[in-house]
Amino acid sequence: MTPLKWWQTAVFYQIYPRSFADGNGDGIGDFKGITEKLDYLANLGVDALWLSPHFPSPNWDCGYDISDYCDAAPEYGTLNDFKTFLDESHKRNMRVILDLVLNHTSDEHEWFVESRSSRDNPKVDWYVWADTPPNNWQSCFDGDAWTYAPERNQYYYHYFMKQQPDLNWHSPEVKEAMWQAIRFWLDLGVDGYRLDALGTIFEDPNLTPHTVPMNLAELRHFSDLAKTPEEIKLRDQYWHDMFKNQWAQGGLHELMKELRTIMDEYEGDRMLVGEDENIDYMGDGKDELHLVFNFALMKTGGITPEHIRKNQAERLKRLSELSAEAGWPCNTLGNHDNSRIHTRFGDKLHDAELARLHTALILTLRGTPFLYNGEEIGMTDYMLTDISQVKDTMGTWYYHALVNDLKVDPREAMARTAEMTRDKNRTPMHWSNNPNAGFSPAGVSPWLPVNPNYQDGVNVKDQTESPYSLLNYYKRLLKVRKNSPALIHGEYIRVHETAADYFAFLRVSEEQKVLVILNFSNRPYHLNFSDIKECKAHKLHSLFTSAEISPKDQEIKEVRLSPFEVYIGELQSVHA
Ligand code: GLC
Repeated sequence: MTPLKWWQTAVFYQIYPRSFADGNGDGIGDFKGITEKLDYLANLGVDALWLSPHFPSPNWDCGYDISDYCDAAPEYGTLNDFKTFLDESHKRNMRVILDLVLNHTSDEHEWFVESRSSRDNPKVDWYVWADTPPNNWQSCFDGDAWTYAPERNQYYYHYFMKQQPDLNWHSPEVKEAMWQAIRFWLDLGVDGYRLDALGTIFEDPNLTPHTVPMNLAELRHFSDLAKTPEEIKLRDQYWHDMFKNQWAQGGLHELMKELRTIMDEYEGDRMLVGEDENIDYMGDGKDELHLVFNFALMKTGGITPEHIRKNQAERLKRLSELSAEAGWPCNTLGNHDNSRIHTRFGDKLHDAELARLHTALILTLRGTPFLYNGEEIGMTDYMLTDISQVKDTMGTWYYHALVNDLKVDPREAMARTAEMTRDKNRTPMHWSNNPNAGFSPAGVSPWLPVNPNYQDGVNVKDQTESPYSLLNYYKRLLKVRKNSPALIHGEYIRVHETAADYFAFLRVSEEQKVLVILNFSNRPYHLNFSDIKECKAHKLHSLFTSAEISPKDQEIKEVRLSPFEVYIGELQSVHA
């Protein structure tokens, strides 16, 4: 077997810098805070960190509107503070990847300021300009996708907020400028990039209008109210049709290939993971992205055994069409754009048990896992109650559109905004039961309200001290994964394929065979695996269980499973 690359064996942990740890007590997370928590992360057992944007930004989209690609946001610290964070992470054997936003810059970036200034400046075509709005395209964040710039008496295109103008990737100068920025961080030693919104980089050159009989606000409103299967089907169709000409257009593969060539010039296996689920962006497995996220796994109302099996069958088949060691999966259930796992996939009755099952799923499926900060202590969504608290500007935009244009009652508009805004899953991390959850000192107002449930044990300190906490469960599971070659690179083999309540599978490598069973139900089971080829003449030695009592060794023909148990057992030959 070809030795695996670091990004194939690593467990990634996403840090949302604004909300992770406030080292200087100003209510905003920063490098000092992150650096102080590196021992915590190393001790948790993760191997790589994905840092959401840390660049200077006016923060219309929480850092995803970058005004300088080669510096650090002053509220997070200096470039030297970044370097300290990077070095200290490396000293602890943790790699660091950055967020790479290619599609757009901030409207305060000097490139845009110059491009907008006149119709004849050196950067005149660095963005996407038109004399009049050429079509009815919508921005997915704030309505019309074309915004007027009086300086040029022209309109510029933006897929996201109007403060995030799209770069014109057909310009060789844009490419060169961006590649220089990429090299800047690679030269400093970062280990790779997560590619933001790559599907939005190119647009349909024919500028074909969309055919949906609504604008963005109306479509969001319609989506909020859609209940029947017909309405839901129509909703999905409309979302697809509204944006299909602004998404996944020609030119992306060539661009990804160019980017890959730059990464490959550097030593140390620098890597790229795309914010896209389309495996096509991995090219032949060696010439485009190293990884794309398996978003299909999380795009569901509920994580059921049937859904997981179907997802794995499709993904792994498609990945197997790439060269043997290149088609590597990448699994996640949460990030800064989505409702937190604990809330989204809980059932309000067994949330604690389900959270354990979901973590186990991500850490035992074949592929590289990505975890989101706060998941390990069971942080939940926090619903804001007043529009003045909302920081996610797609949320404020929607609220005002609901109230002013669609005449929705302000209270209802706020409830819907709280649901749709991503603030709910970006609130400050809970470090302790001290005021402000130990994120900021007492008396300081953090940039987003702290979820009060930090007082009910949802915090790092309390959970560190409690042996049965979710945090300690994460640590144990991460350790088992690290010490189990089969869980890292073993093949995935489906077993008991029709079981509706539990999901069982084998991970088989040359050195080890492991059986994983995730019981998604509140029923106990006695399961028989003795007729499965790989299990014959084997017994099971327990590597991990979430059950309070569970035998160390079990007969393969009678495996006992408690309600909601996560069981991982190693197959041992009975002839040994
Ligand atoms: C990606 C980011 C999201 C951001 C958007 C625009 O989807 O994950 O947070 O708002 O791109 O950059």
